[in-house]
Amino acid sequence: MEFSIITEPASAWSADAVVFFAFKDADEYLPGFSSWMASDADWVAGSPALGDFSGELDNSSVIYGSGSSVQRVLLVGLGEEKDFSVDKFLQAVSTALRKCRELKFRTVGVPLVAFEGIPLEDKLEHFVVAAIEGLYSFDEFKSKKDEKKGLPETIRFLTEDEPPAHLAEMLLKGQAVGQGMGYARDLVNLPPNVANPVYLADEAKKLAKQYGFKFKAMKRKEIIDKGMGAFASVFRGSNDEPRMITLEYCPKDREGQKPLVLVGKGVTFDTGGISLKPTGFIEDMKCDMGGAAAILGFFRAIGTIKPDLPVVGILPCADNMPDASATRPGEVVTSFSGKTIEILNTDAEGRLLLCDALAYSAQFEPAAIIDLATLTGGCIVAFGWDVAAVMDNSALMQNLVIESGTRVGERFWPMPLWDIYKEELKSEVADLKNIGSREGMTIHAGMFLKEFVPEDVPWAHLDIAGPAWRKKKTPAGSAGGTGFGVRTLVEIAERIDLEDM
Ligand code: BES
Ligand code: ZN
Ligand code: ZN
Repeated sequence: MEFSIITEPASAWSADAVVFFAFKDADEYLPGFSSWMASDADWVAGSPALGDFSGELDNSSVIYGSGSSVQRVLLVGLGEEKDFSVDKFLQAVSTALRKCRELKFRTVGVPLVAFEGIPLEDKLEHFVVAAIEGLYSFDEFKSKKDEKKGLPETIRFLTEDEPPAHLAEMLLKGQAVGQGMGYARDLVNLPPNVANPVYLADEAKKLAKQYGFKFKAMKRKEIIDKGMGAFASVFRGSNDEPRMITLEYCPKDREGQKPLVLVGKGVTFDTGGISLKPTGFIEDMKCDMGGAAAILGFFRAIGTIKPDLPVVGILPCADNMPDASATRPGEVVTSFSGKTIEILNTDAEGRLLLCDALAYSAQFEPAAIIDLATLTGGCIVAFGWDVAAVMDNSALMQNLVIESGTRVGERFWPMPLWDIYKEELKSEVADLKNIGSREGMTIHAGMFLKEFVPEDVPWAHLDIAGPAWRKKKTPAGSAGGTGFGVRTLVEIAERIDLEDM
């Protein structure tokens, strides 16, 4: 799909359909739509289809012209204005673009005046991301491809006056972010027999080559030799080779500056290990590398956006399998930090590979650390499917995450890491055990990770177990991986002041 900005008089606009928006139960149409009808499209105003339009979110009406260069109007509902927010806009646009595909439109026109009166910033960027998101599908393993997949071919942003310069920039950013999310979704949707740790390392290497990042991937022996006993305990039962991937991005004049470090859980399949998951809980566990996928999607996006700060990605990747050589509940391992861990549940494996990655991150001298992980089912119990938890040692980081997420329609909500929870992780035989009680499990996981964060480094842990994965398709998008986190990370990279941590 191609996007362009076209400057020409409204009388010359041509498209299979042009898109306008309207709120439900509004007294008047939005100003851009009203004035276009009055000056260039009286056929719209006279159409009975206009009267049938409800303005409900996820609903739209097609109004047909006859003989006009604009053949149709797709009027898209935004719901009630009082309930409006960025995620409603994203949903409305995604749903509308899916309808354009269903109706086999090749070119879709979006007059910039259609955005007037919608109370939101940067609508062009959001539109582009939502269009790419809505039209995403994963059919790599379908013998018969959807013949409509390539549609619409072009989206033209139409304007009568010379557009401001930052609009082209917004368009590029929207595309980079949309593609980054699509890439993260692909990685999650690929089955675990394809997207194994070696595959993820190859992908990271490709990104490095394409965008000039520094790349490294440690293999099994190096991980063990380095003393990453917690990480190693996760892949002991697996035939798939593990990888500890690092990617480094650094703008030219930022060398020597302390980086933002991103750590992502890359469990390419989580069976639970010897603490095997039961039917009903195991089927979707290819999603368990959603944190690593979001970071790879982020790197793909910043390859184009080129934010002005150094960023390091650390992705411990492994699959968690039961086997004769797998880790048994009750084993004690020594982590990279030197702390010993009693593993009482091999299904709490995410914190084991993350704790070594967090401790290892010290060698990059991080200015700040953010980790992303599909870490606990308890987070879904607490917040539902659409909200991620943020746990941290820094109010600044917490605010940054929540505010950045809010701007792009990704929801984060805090959980506390108070000392009272420390009791839960005390072991009879080792420095720590890897689980606490069920009650408060998401916080216990956060408390565990906190023990391994390099001293005095501001850090935020994002538990994305719910929003990384969508069980069923919705009017706005297909099921499976969602790319959750990519947008927030891009936003954070643009806002964070590493010298002010
Ligand atoms: N990968 C799971 C968490 C998960 C659950 C992600 C559902 C996405 C959807 C994680 O490794 C896990 O199994 N966690 C356990 C922790 C428990 C053993 C303390 C859980 O959530 O039950
Ligand atoms: Zn698990
Ligand atoms: Zn897991």
